[in-house]
Amino acid sequence: MKKIFYILITFIFAAFSMSSLANTEGEAMYSALGCASCHGVNGRSNDESIPSIAGKDVDWIVQQLEYFQSGERQNAYMNAMAPLAEGFERSIAEYLFIQDPQK
Ligand code: HEC
Repeated sequence: MKKIFYILITFIFAAFSMSSLANTEGEAMYSALGCASCHGVNGRSNDESIPSIAGKDVDWIVQQLEYFQSGERQNAYMNAMAPLAEGFERSIAEYLFIQDPQK
């Protein structure tokens, strides 16, 4: 009985630390790649020529990044930036999704 309890605790702890790690990864990559310099801290842009991306749907963000990578969607900045996010599209998108678009 005790053993099952320990296994359960270990499992819950591992799941918890993995989910927080994924979040931290998205935030770290968003900042490290310089996305924040255009789209603003937490994805809220102050510049009218640059869209805010806070709170947007995860799949939609991933899709836009893939369109910019393939050239299906054209924008000089994003065609250069999106390939840098390769492999981190989803964790960045998950980070942006949980940001408040209003604040
Ligand atoms: C040099 C400025 C700049 C940087 C750096 C930049 N972006 Fe962008 N981004 C833009 C502009 C401008 C657009 C609008 C493109 C258009 O009009 O099609 C855009 C569009 C987007 C969109 C689609 C938004 C929409 O409303 O259609 C997403 C998602 C996005 N960027 C994510 C990122 C991520 C993730 C990074 C970092 C890897 C990043 N951007 C870095 C300027 C930038």
